[in-house]
Amino acid sequence: MRVGRVRQDRQVRQHHRTFRLLGSLLLAAMGASATGAAPAQAASPVPLDRVVPVPASVDPGGSPYRITRDTRIRVDDSRETRRVGEYLAHILRPSTGYRLPVTAHGAGGIRLRLAKGPFGVEGYRLDSGRKGVTITAAGAAGLFHGVQTLRQLLPAAVEKDSVQPGPWLVAGGTIQDTPRYGWRGAMLDVSRHFFTVDQVKRYIDQLALYKINKLHLHLSDDQGWRIAIDSWPRLATYGGSTQVGGGPGGYYTKADYKEIVRYASSRFLEVVPEIDMPGHTNAALASYAELNCDGVAPPLYTGTEVGFSSLCVGKDITYDFVDDVIRELAALTPGKYLHIGGDEAHSTSHEDYVKFMDRVQPLVAKYGKTVVGWHQLTGATPATGALAQYWGLDGTSAEEKAQVAKAAQNGTGIVLSPADRIYLDMKYTADTPLGLDWAGLVEVKRSYDWDPGDYLPGVPSSAIRGVEAPMWTETITKSADIEYMAFPRLAGVAELGWSPASTHDWEGYKVRLAAQAERWEALGIGFYRSPQVPWPTA
Ligand code: ACM
Repeated sequence: MRVGRVRQDRQVRQHHRTFRLLGSLLLAAMGASATGAAPAQAASPVPLDRVVPVPASVDPGGSPYRITRDTRIRVDDSRETRRVGEYLAHILRPSTGYRLPVTAHGAGGIRLRLAKGPFGVEGYRLDSGRKGVTITAAGAAGLFHGVQTLRQLLPAAVEKDSVQPGPWLVAGGTIQDTPRYGWRGAMLDVSRHFFTVDQVKRYIDQLALYKINKLHLHLSDDQGWRIAIDSWPRLATYGGSTQVGGGPGGYYTKADYKEIVRYASSRFLEVVPEIDMPGHTNAALASYAELNCDGVAPPLYTGTEVGFSSLCVGKDITYDFVDDVIRELAALTPGKYLHIGGDEAHSTSHEDYVKFMDRVQPLVAKYGKTVVGWHQLTGATPATGALAQYWGLDGTSAEEKAQVAKAAQNGTGIVLSPADRIYLDMKYTADTPLGLDWAGLVEVKRSYDWDPGDYLPGVPSSAIRGVEAPMWTETITKSADIEYMAFPRLAGVAELGWSPASTHDWEGYKVRLAAQAERWEALGIGFYRSPQVPWPTA
């Protein structure tokens, strides 16, 4: 045994020069077996490509960097860079127990650096070697995404909130990384069940780890209106007073919403608020009788049916209402987009639907925002620059797909959220205790194994702006529910949105995905242990 190990060590030494790419890994493993103390997995740095989303390009080699109590986080002297440095320190300090000062001075350590280069707005380069790790990007967003990669290159225990033994090694080499799509979204339905600011922040932190950059908040639906509008106060105070199942519901004050926007922005996510119209509006119709064609307010609704409500397209007050809501919401929202829903308007005639969208889309532009709508918007006339969010299935009719393709050919951008692939509220299997199954069962492989670039026939690939994973919450009532349905599928959506199509490979992906399990455990994320994924055994 002992002799064998020595021989193995010598072989490792002999081959080190020839196997430069493997060198750092093997040496680290050798160190572990020589001391016999730490398990090999703790002492071997995570390979540079064992990251989700997988980086665009990885060139491993050279010595690993070891974070020690002397490590500094060095930043350029800019507020934005310092902010990312502080964020990194806030991730690393609890588990390492090190001070990790964020400073513009010194040498070595972890350096965050802004420079011109082929990074785009969100890309970055990560160089790691014996003396330090440098993340270079054109802007703070790229540095932030590079920091997420660095996190995943460290042992999963780095995510814990108490001091862990380490060692904190980062494999040597270079990563060059830039996203495939600019829209990598997650939607949270806070209407069917209300989620507090802290619950939303928790989800934001999980999204940021996978480089998701849009948080779409579904703020209104039949069951609840969740954002305070000063000019129509009963929307929130009455329309927000219940939820599916009859619980107390809730709503965001303007200060709450601003805090979500601020927190999302600190994690480089843009909030996309949605007011779903003209259907999915029972909470508004219940709050103000005058919005109903017959002037009679319906009762609040706590069931899960869809398609029964509509704003009154023929009344002028409807557009005063929509103008006020869009004006107030746009003023709270620094992001570019405002989502106006438009799905399942089964109680609105087609003629009225078109008329409604013709009057409402200019209001979005009037307040400086760009329209996003569910893909039914393509059945009306999408405004110039509008985006349509496709939520169909394999079984969606050819006519409906053709209508989306025609709009895309005419310049409407498409965000892909196919329900039978990436609706995170679909059950994984018939036994999944949460979720719905109207779009089918969506196991992990199914949610990952498709290409946004050639998904919809007739849609030019240049029209695809990205992907977004919606989480509808008819059956979802707490953070643990969100997490069980999002993980592991969310990671796959993130990879579809970020990584080049050339890297797409289920066999490789499932191994990288399996390696996330320890990280989720360290973060307290309870995930679905799909039998399709080779999870490490405990
Ligand atoms: C939707 O699922 N009704 C967009």
